[in-house]
Amino acid sequence: MASLIERYHQWRRRTFPASKEDVAWRHDFLNARLDSLGARFDSVDRRLNEIGGSLNVTPDHTRLEPLFESLRRRAQTLIDGGQRMNYYSSESPDGLGYWPLSEEECPCDVHFREYLASRDIGGKSIFHFGTGAHHFVGAGELGRGNPNYVLAVTASPKEHADYIDLIIRSPRLARFYKVIFTDIYTLDGASLPAFDIVTLFHLCEYWDPVKSAYAPLDDRKLLGLMIEKLKPGGQIIAYTRSRSWDKAWPLFEAAVAAKALRAAEPFKTLNVYAKV
Ligand SMILES: C[S@@+](CC[C@H](N)C(=O)[O-])C[C@H]1O[C@@H](n2cnc3c(N)ncnc32)[C@H](O)[C@@H]1O
Repeated sequence: MASLIERYHQWRRRTFPASKEDVAWRHDFLNARLDSLGARFDSVDRRLNEIGGSLNVTPDHTRLEPLFESLRRRAQTLIDGGQRMNYYSSESPDGLGYWPLSEEECPCDVHFREYLASRDIGGKSIFHFGTGAHHFVGAGELGRGNPNYVLAVTASPKEHADYIDLIIRSPRLARFYKVIFTDIYTLDGASLPAFDIVTLFHLCEYWDPVKSAYAPLDDRKLLGLMIEKLKPGGQIIAYTRSRSWDKAWPLFEAAVAAKALRAAEPFKTLNVYAKV
């Protein structure tokens, strides 16, 4: 009997036969586009400097407004320290931020699917931190009788490009599986729905005091936001084999001590916390 992962890969090859080859061109195209945008930004930047130097004219606010707007935007970039998004770029085996499914190395997504199946959880609203290149959690909802509704985030341009490819080939999947390309530490409660289940398997793995300086959240605030977004009785699932479990665990413990969460029955490598 083939393992769950082998059967998943067989299914994925059958359903999305040319996925990787098809997206390769898009990555090259995106890289070239980024380089050209960077060059254009530099040239606009130089021009703004020249104009800024000759601004000793009688100010006509109506005519100057577009220029002020550009200057404001440029100033904002400077305030942000000219930072680029802390996107997922180097940790994966290919060194390009594209994480394959490996039950041996990182079984959290496999265990989560088993957890959902073992409790026959369907029709629920799920937030998932970190799709991986495999999209194992979201893609698994396709073909289920009572699928869950998964909203997932990835900070990997390549993983997100694969999602685009998946739903172009299988638009039905898009009904149950949405992926946002974003830095999770920039999320805001105003743009999120309420969830029945939130996975925070990678809490404390990616926030960086320098690279994430533009983001309003850190790991403690992210956990707080997700507790807020849980429906009554909802669950947050943690991954006890995370490389940052030593940092994430005290955050969960603090939430339990504050009576925001209570520890429920664990499942394999996953700790389950219920909203109090
Ligand atoms: C090591 S991979 C794990 C993927 C999958 N959960 C698994 O275990 O196979 C980490 C995932 O977290 C995502 N990620 C890393 N930093 C992130 C951030 N700041 N915001 C959102 N997603 C992030 C990556 O894009 C990637 O999908």
